[in-house]
Amino acid sequence: MLTNPASKYRSFAPVNLPDRAWVNRTITQSPIWLSTDLRDGNQALIEPMDITRKLRLFNLLIRIGFKEIEIGFPSASQTEFDFIRHLIEQQLIPDDVAIQVLTPAREELIRRTFESLRGAKKAIVHLYNATSPVFRRTVFNLDRAGTINLATSAARLFNELAAKQPETNWQFQYSPETFTATELDFASYICDAVLDVWQPTPQHKAIINLPATVEVSTPNVFADQVEWMHRHLRRRDSVILCVHTHNDRGCGIAAAEMALLAGAERVEGCLFGNGERTGNVDLVTLALNLYTQGIHPGLDFSNINEVAHVAAECTQLPIHPRHPYVGDLVFTAFSGSHQDAIRKGFAVQAPDTIWEVPYLPLDPADVGRTYESVVRVNSQSGKGGITFLLERDFGITLPRRLQIEFSRVVQRVMDTGGKELSPQDLWQLFEQEYLHGETVLRYVSHQVYTDDDSTQMLSAKLQVDGEVIEICGKGNGPIDAFVNALGNEVQILHYEEHSRNLGSNADAVAYVEMSSDFISGSLYGVGINSNIVTASILAIISGVNRALNSVDAEVRIEHLMKLKDYNSVVRG
Ligand code: KIV
Ligand code: ZN
Repeated sequence: MLTNPASKYRSFAPVNLPDRAWVNRTITQSPIWLSTDLRDGNQALIEPMDITRKLRLFNLLIRIGFKEIEIGFPSASQTEFDFIRHLIEQQLIPDDVAIQVLTPAREELIRRTFESLRGAKKAIVHLYNATSPVFRRTVFNLDRAGTINLATSAARLFNELAAKQPETNWQFQYSPETFTATELDFASYICDAVLDVWQPTPQHKAIINLPATVEVSTPNVFADQVEWMHRHLRRRDSVILCVHTHNDRGCGIAAAEMALLAGAERVEGCLFGNGERTGNVDLVTLALNLYTQGIHPGLDFSNINEVAHVAAECTQLPIHPRHPYVGDLVFTAFSGSHQDAIRKGFAVQAPDTIWEVPYLPLDPADVGRTYESVVRVNSQSGKGGITFLLERDFGITLPRRLQIEFSRVVQRVMDTGGKELSPQDLWQLFEQEYLHGETVLRYVSHQVYTDDDSTQMLSAKLQVDGEVIEICGKGNGPIDAFVNALGNEVQILHYEEHSRNLGSNADAVAYVEMSSDFISGSLYGVGINSNIVTASILAIISGVNRALNSVDAEVRIEHLMKLKDYNSVVRG
């Protein structure tokens, strides 16, 4: 790179428009859309589409709801010409759809273009010639007058050839190619000259398309250029003002949006931003940007995965996982704080109300995406994501302190493995830690009796170290009675339960937080059973096992011996 890039690159000139109005406007309606996937998109492919792929993409565009589709550049190749003939002859174009084709300002190419459209019901013929100084000077060796003459002669030929094919409902479009690098007075002058030839009316408008053939400035400058044209075109009421942005500086979408504020009414672009170099403006993003502002774009992306799949197959270009609205990762949070906020947002988001789930600008369901991938757990994740997945996929609602405890278990695994954990992996870890881990104490059965004085008596058979013992306790409820039966080895600090329905099975899930003389702090035990008392006993056993597993063998043996001593003794 140069130490002084100014010696090689010129900065773009601002537009003198002190009373620019676009900055204070908002977009309130959808523009007219023109898909140029089959033309600008196609001409930028490593391997341009054959007729079969073009047809598949054309049908997709129809299903999405495009009413104006640029189907090709008929004078560029036989395949292009044949595709247009195929659509017309096989009557594959719906009556409410206008096809558009592009032609340069060259007589033989214009004739071939009109030839390709014979028999079409509705057609937009798109004429272009480059207008910027560098093109006039270097590419065409034409002065301003010569450049205007090229455009107007071509425009006159349009009138002549269209008159010979009266069965078609014609609309004409002119693009001063390289508009963004053209002097504004010259751009409006040449557009006016072409319009003078075509004589459009408010009832039968022509389209003036302002291409950012190469994006050369910040989008506010483009918006100024568009507003300038919007104010200066002489036949403004007989013109549909259109923009066609490319993405060389990465601002194609911003430029198109600002251009809409500045007076543009129509946008040309491609699905997912395919097109020359860095691509045309991405119509999917543009449309869904409107949708998330409460404006229906008139295009249907309710199955965005199908759209992405067909577009990627036809163009043979993959879609980036971070591509707005469609990439595999765009509705996914890995980070703990994001996951926590998303979980809380989902918990309070009521159906059919304003969407307010943090970090998700769009409800994935609106574009046919599931909530499956919204939260994924890796080493960046925290309790929020883990809790969300266990709740969503396994019906487990962890108490807050258990969330923290279990997230440490997950973190330990992450620190060694480093890989993403699926919801199934998390569940296995949870089962291993709380439900079926290594146990010194096993539940066999229990019975509860209520005494006359309404105290409860509980007897439970447990397997301790392979030997079955029976312990008994009294208390003011089964949990109290069972803790007494265990000789008050543990103290219950917190108890919580809920039911869960997975398929046809309804289970009770019990959580106990306990402390004990032989462990520091507290820990949780979890039990799941169709019977709530059994679930509670299992939860206590789970906690006792975790406590015993956390101490030295000596301490463990001492406590197990004590338990065996309680065999058949009623405690409490
Ligand atoms: O980018 C461009 O300038 C074009 C024109 C032909 C409209 O594609
Ligand atoms: Zn283009």
